[in-house]
Amino acid sequence: MDILFYHPSADSNDWIARIMAQLPNANVYTYHQGATQTADYALVWDPTREILSHQDNLKGIFILGAGVDKILNQQKRMPGLLPQNVPLYRLEDAGMALQMQEYAIASVMRYFRRLDEYYQQQQHKQWHVLSAHSYEEFVIGVMGLGVLGEQVATRLAALGFKVKGWSRSKKSIDHVDCYSQNQHDEFISGTKLLINLLPCTPQTQGILNKSLFTKLEDGAYLINLARGNHVVEEDLLNAIANKKIKAATLDVFATEPLPSEHPFWCTPEITITPHISALTQADKAIPQIVEKILRIEKGEKVAEGLIDLEKGY
Ligand code: NAP
Ligand code: GLV
Repeated sequence: MDILFYHPSADSNDWIARIMAQLPNANVYTYHQGATQTADYALVWDPTREILSHQDNLKGIFILGAGVDKILNQQKRMPGLLPQNVPLYRLEDAGMALQMQEYAIASVMRYFRRLDEYYQQQQHKQWHVLSAHSYEEFVIGVMGLGVLGEQVATRLAALGFKVKGWSRSKKSIDHVDCYSQNQHDEFISGTKLLINLLPCTPQTQGILNKSLFTKLEDGAYLINLARGNHVVEEDLLNAIANKKIKAATLDVFATEPLPSEHPFWCTPEITITPHISALTQADKAIPQIVEKILRIEKGEKVAEGLIDLEKGY
C-alpha cells in the first residue's frame, strides 16, 4: 500500500516513521515537486493543486485536522484540487477535545474571576476590589455541539456554569440546554459568554456579527476557537468600542499569521493566541487514521469523520 504524506509545517520524517511503525508493509512517502507516483491514501494538510490532482488511485484522503473549510474553499476556487469521488475524512477529537476544554476553562475562568481586569489594574499599581460574577448571571453559550463543542459544554457545565448549546440538529446533552438551528434567538438570549466551535461553512461564515452581538447580554465576552472567518471584524471592534462586548479571546483569524498592522493587536480588550487552542497530535491522529485505512482495506464503509460535501463539514 502506498501512502502520501504532506504537511507544510509538520516534521514529515517523524510522521512517516510513526505511520510506518503502525503499517509496516506500507510505503509512506512525502510529496516532492514533480512527483508522479500514485498513492492509495493521502494524509494531507493544506495541499497545493499539484499534490493531489493527478492522484487517480486514491481510496481515501485524510485531512490532518478537524476543520475542512480551507481545502473545500480551495477546491471551489481551483476545481480539480481534490480528485473526484474520493472520500474525504477529517480528524475527530484525536486529542483536540481535551485541549479545547483546557483552553476554554482557562479563558472562561480568567473572565469569570476578572483576572484580565486585575492584570490591567496592576499595570497602574491600582488596588481595587471588583464585584464578583455569579454562576447564575454568567451564562455560557456554546455555538456548535459537535465533537469538540459538546465536550467543552459538558466540562463547563460540570464546573457549575449554566451552559446553553446551539447546533444544526437538536442535541440532548446532560446539564446543557440544547437549541437547534431555528432556535438561535432563544439560545443567544441571556448569554454572557459566547464560545464559538462551529465549522466555517457558507452558512456560518460571518455569523459573529453586529446582529448577534446585539442579542448578547451587555458587557458580554466572546471566545472564538473555530475560524477567523466566522467574525465580522469591524462589527467586533465596534461592539468592543461601544462596550456591548467587554472582552474577546481570539485564537483564529481571517488572515494568519495576524498581520502586524491589524487593529486587533492594539485593542486591549482582545486577547490573541496563534491558532493553538487544539493542535493536531501525531500520536493520537495516526492511530485514528490507520484504523480507518485498515477498515477500508477490508472493504468496510467508514462513516466516522467522513465529510459531507453538501453540508461543508
Ligand atoms: P463537528 O463535530 O463537525 O461539529 C460541528 C457542530 O457545528 C455540530 O454540532 C453541527 O451541528 C454544528 N453546525 C454546523 N453548521 C451549523 C449551522 N449552520 N447552524 C448551527 N449549527 C451548525 O466539528 P468539531 O470537530 O467539533 O470542530 C469544530 C470546528 O472547530 C472545526 O470545524 C474547526 O474549524 C475548529 N477547530 C479549531 C481548532 C483550533 O486550534 N482553533 C482546532 C480544531 C478545530 P450538527 O451536530 O447538527 O451537525
Ligand atoms: C485546526 O484548526 C483544525 O481544524 O484542526
